[in-house]
Amino acid sequence: MIEYRPLRVALLGAGSVGSQVARLLLTNRVELAARVGAELELVGIAVRNLDAKREGDLPASLFTTDAETLILGADIVIEVMGGIEPARSYILLALNSGSDVITANKALLATHGTELFDAAEQVGAQLYFEAAVAAAIPIIRPLRESLAGDKVTRIMGIVNGSTNYILDRMDTAGLSLEAAMVEATDLGYLEADPSLDVEGFDAAQKAAILASLAFHTEVPLEQVYREGITKVTAEQMIAAKRDGYVIKLLAICERIAADDSGEGGISVRVYPALIPQEHPLGAVRGAFNAVFVEAEAAGALMFYGSGAGGVQTASAILGDLVSAAKRHVAGGPGLADSVHANLPVLPIERVLTRYQITLGVADQPGVLAKVAQTFADHDVSIETVEQGLRAVAGRKSVALLEIGTHQASDAALSAVVAALAASDAVESISSVIRVEGI
Ligand code: HSE
Repeated sequence: MIEYRPLRVALLGAGSVGSQVARLLLTNRVELAARVGAELELVGIAVRNLDAKREGDLPASLFTTDAETLILGADIVIEVMGGIEPARSYILLALNSGSDVITANKALLATHGTELFDAAEQVGAQLYFEAAVAAAIPIIRPLRESLAGDKVTRIMGIVNGSTNYILDRMDTAGLSLEAAMVEATDLGYLEADPSLDVEGFDAAQKAAILASLAFHTEVPLEQVYREGITKVTAEQMIAAKRDGYVIKLLAICERIAADDSGEGGISVRVYPALIPQEHPLGAVRGAFNAVFVEAEAAGALMFYGSGAGGVQTASAILGDLVSAAKRHVAGGPGLADSVHANLPVLPIERVLTRYQITLGVADQPGVLAKVAQTFADHDVSIETVEQGLRAVAGRKSVALLEIGTHQASDAALSAVVAALAASDAVESISSVIRVEGI
């Protein structure tokens, strides 16, 4: 039974996500009202240009360029315009006037999240952002609520669909990075500025958001270690496949125990890495996203689905809208996320990981011993060595060594690579890549 007054919903932005949010709100109005216990009335859609061509058939009377008046008359504001400004100012205006806000804006949350959450807390409003990470996949609410009584130890995610598509095409169709990027561009997968995807910035923003929820800690974006996929080669792909691995751009958030060299904390990082083909993330193909969460009591959990797309992102926003509307009906202030743990974000050097290193060396006595000594000098244990011969025309034969290490600190592993580069036993280093998920 619907007893509560209609709730006024303002939408900021009418792009591929906004137009789907509006369509679903209008189409599912009766069903949503029954679920919430109040009508959800779309009172307006703020856009920059009233004459722009738009998807769908939304009533012209809903559109306005006066975002501020729209915001001030709303109970709940949905921001899907993207970018930092004016999105930030509009969200602050909405929160400061007591409205709940739903946003899909990962860049804004990753850079100005503290300011926005503080503003919400001041007035008892709530900021919802399920759509900001991995679009349709429920991952924010599971971290914020379902796992709030557990202790998350590690998150490993494929949270950028376009780079997963590119790496997948390199793997399955043998494409070069450049050719796979052209395909991803033609399919509209890449951001307007593709470096946000291929240099790992988008994944880093999402990693910062996930880590802050998982570890109850503020995670400044600049403390997220980041490497993109632009140095991944077709040769690395072939070698990975031969060895039973697949290369994925991983966003990793994990607790790091204290060691002799320093305090414990968390690590938040993004880089391409080898993972075993049989790992659950190894099966994530095309532009799909997945987040693999490990928690002390729950064990391993896998969240999988569409990490982009207008209607998929709108699904997450509508879920947040129902939550926000129910809270209005039930009454009571919004609940801030806790950042009580305040754990230090540790530098990449403190991370424990494995490397796979491919070297060209002269095929002569004593060379293998010199290479092995370099690892021993830095206390890094070798797990696997594979040697193949590669003839080089007009020169002595060169052996290709593929060396896999046991787990060691990233500091020690990168010191090994630097020492190998300087060693007269080594002619070339053709690949250095981390190994995760084993
Ligand atoms: N550029 C993002 C991706 C879109 O490729 O996943 C969704 O955030």
